[in-house]
Amino acid sequence: MKILVIGGGGREHSLVWKFSQSPRVEKIFAAPGNAGTASLAENVAIDVEDVMALAEFAQAENIGMTVVGPEAPLVLGIVDEFKKRGLRIFGPDKFAAQLEGSKKFCKEAMIRFGVPTAEYGEFTDPEAAKAYIREKGVPIVVKADGLAAGKGVIVARTLEEALDAVDLMMVAREFGDAGDVLVVEECLVGEEASFLAFCDGKSVVPMDSSQDHKPALDNDEGPNTGGMGAYSPAPVVTAELFDEVMETVMKPMVDGMAREGTPYVGILYGGLMIDNGKFKVLEFNCRFGDPECQPILMRLKSDLVDVLDAAIDGKLDQIELEWDDRATVCVVMASEGYPGSYPKGVEIAGLDVAAKLADVVVFHAGTRLNGGKVVTSGGRVLGVTAIGDGVAQAIERAYEAVKVVGWPGAHYRTDIGKKALNR
Ligand code: AMP
Ligand code: GLY
Repeated sequence: MKILVIGGGGREHSLVWKFSQSPRVEKIFAAPGNAGTASLAENVAIDVEDVMALAEFAQAENIGMTVVGPEAPLVLGIVDEFKKRGLRIFGPDKFAAQLEGSKKFCKEAMIRFGVPTAEYGEFTDPEAAKAYIREKGVPIVVKADGLAAGKGVIVARTLEEALDAVDLMMVAREFGDAGDVLVVEECLVGEEASFLAFCDGKSVVPMDSSQDHKPALDNDEGPNTGGMGAYSPAPVVTAELFDEVMETVMKPMVDGMAREGTPYVGILYGGLMIDNGKFKVLEFNCRFGDPECQPILMRLKSDLVDVLDAAIDGKLDQIELEWDDRATVCVVMASEGYPGSYPKGVEIAGLDVAAKLADVVVFHAGTRLNGGKVVTSGGRVLGVTAIGDGVAQAIERAYEAVKVVGWPGAHYRTDIGKKALNR
């Protein structure tokens, strides 16, 4: 079968890497891919949001299965377009993808289906949002309803910050239409974890737990990023909590969507805030997490083609996932200045040395080929991922590999996985 992976980050490199191990796969394309996917797949220069060009490519190449990495094409309705043309694609349709594409839609669905989440208000008028903020007090969280490239959530510690957030989103329209509606939400405290599951519209097959590290700097300091590292499993998600999340979050969401005639097919990713063994859902994403995908797929033993085939056909009840019992850790190496502005085109050294290390895979994110050389081309550049007997060994192996690759100005957190060690 020919596979098309849409996207060009670390998540997509790990998807390509995983597909490349399947005996069912004859050829992989990545659109647009990166220097890492280029070694396992053929990169195709089509933008992830150019749904029509992607569909035409898939038709022309007779692609047997398309997998979408980022949320933007899903929210634009890529699944609807592919299905209209009789193409097999894994992901939620445009309606169901609103779980990520609209915070208002997501919150209202959680309330209807009885899923535990933070108290909130939704607003189309800035003065009403501000009155709510004054009434509730700080800290408080201000969220733009629509997609805002990961920047649409402001956790405000002071009243001024919260009111400014409303002006930024609704008056200055920093995120365009995405700020037409605001969700203003109770600020939750605790430890975050990512709970991902494969869904086929009826059944939910959970992946093992994982944890991201959103802040740019050690000890969760500095500005939020797309994610500076992740590991799996995440011991904060105990076996008991895992079952509770399945029963009170994942199944009710999938059952509720089905009952309302809008079944959810794809990855359902619940972002959890856990405090003292209790949790609430911060948000849902409608795709694999990046970087969570890298450590999760490194532990998944099952053939991903079989799993996604079953999901597309509504047969996930026939699938039992097999996991490597060991732990995986992914350390993200980022460009100097990320998540702010950063230089591009800097040559990366040591990739050949790292490639020879046992139990390590260096997933590329923002990289591209320039002549024969691999250079930086994005904020998050590499996801150095290692497997070990226990999280301590995985951490050690990942950081050994981090030492041998690099470029001037590269930065990374030195404490990825530490929360797991502390448990
Ligand atoms: P989201 O874009 O909804 O994933 O939110 C991005 C990040 O903002 C989350 O991963 C949390 O770190 C933080 N966040 C979102 N909602 C809340 C909340 N209600 N309380 C505290 N932090 C939050
Ligand atoms: N790692 C967080 C996300 O993928 O949204």
